[in-house]
Amino acid sequence: MESTSRSMPEGLQDIQGRTFPYLRLSVTDLCNFRCNYCLPDGCVDHHHNDALSVDEIRRLVTAFAYLGVQKIRLTGGEPTLRQDFTDVVHIIRQVSGIKKLAMTTNGYRMDKRVTSWMDAGIDAINVSVDSLDPRAFKAITGHDRLREILLGIQTAFDHGLPSIKVNAVAMKGVNDDQLDTFLEWIRSHPISIRFIELMQTGGNIEFFQKHHFPGKTIQELLLARGWVRKMSAADAGPAQEYCHSDYQGTVGLIMPYSKDFCNDCNRLRVTSLGQLQLCLFAESGIDLRDLLQSDDQQDALVMRIRDSLRLKESGHFLDQGLTGGTRNLSQMGG
Ligand code: 5AD
Ligand code: SF4
Repeated sequence: MESTSRSMPEGLQDIQGRTFPYLRLSVTDLCNFRCNYCLPDGCVDHHHNDALSVDEIRRLVTAFAYLGVQKIRLTGGEPTLRQDFTDVVHIIRQVSGIKKLAMTTNGYRMDKRVTSWMDAGIDAINVSVDSLDPRAFKAITGHDRLREILLGIQTAFDHGLPSIKVNAVAMKGVNDDQLDTFLEWIRSHPISIRFIELMQTGGNIEFFQKHHFPGKTIQELLLARGWVRKMSAADAGPAQEYCHSDYQGTVGLIMPYSKDFCNDCNRLRVTSLGQLQLCLFAESGIDLRDLLQSDDQQDALVMRIRDSLRLKESGHFLDQGLTGGTRNLSQMGG
């Protein structure tokens, strides 16, 4: 990038004064699981083969790093379904300014592959485990793979991965009976488990109405049992963290329906087709792909990203039942 053509970059900031050091990048919209809240019928009408190439990803990440992004999370769909997943990791590692490279996975073949992800340069992994009961796990995801996923988590620990988080979407009548099992698990394991409140999307309205389980209920239960809210770091994002002296692990609550949730928004998203999404629940994205075709488009790309930020709303409108254009989160990895 020409350093003479512009003065020093300012980080990305929107009109609310929020800054965006964190980019969630979907590298494929394909998923091999069929989570009941996301893709109950599996992947139909997806665009795996049109996903951004490694070169397009390099250009995209270089522009975001220039704009102050320091942390990237690779998501999907299931990001590891890309044959060249470790090439993607390698190339991002070569972009200066990216300090942390995380990924979210459903844990598929994690037991066999996690060391290759770490060797390529991944330093934090979030794994979805919606139930610790193998039968319920299968009922939720369509796959009888809980054992392999737990083994994958153990392997990551054994090889010294600095950060492992487990995501569980809390659902009434599906896994709300598992709360104690999860807590027992982290008594002796230094895992951060995040309970995510089920979000309504265009594709899961009935499911949402039946199974929505308020995060507040979990919060009250934790507080009643002596869990303490941790002060969150300035750049922590919207999760609330809780700890307890009897437990090695911690609990994070992600409560998108709570008041002020969006005030701490610190992330932007780009879909696997190169659309910048200013919010999970935005009506539509801003296409960046035409500016990812050659290295000499970087200035225009930086400008489009910066200009787009003016369009970022102060929050979502989920409480009014408005889910935006998002049919399910497999398009941009939650
Ligand atoms: N509500 C809440 N979380 C969701 N995820 C996917 N769909 C939803 C939804 N409707 C989360 C999953 C997974 C991550 C990729 O996104 O828990 O961990
Ligand atoms: Fe499940 Fe994630 Fe795949 Fe959706 S994208 S079906 S939440 S594993």
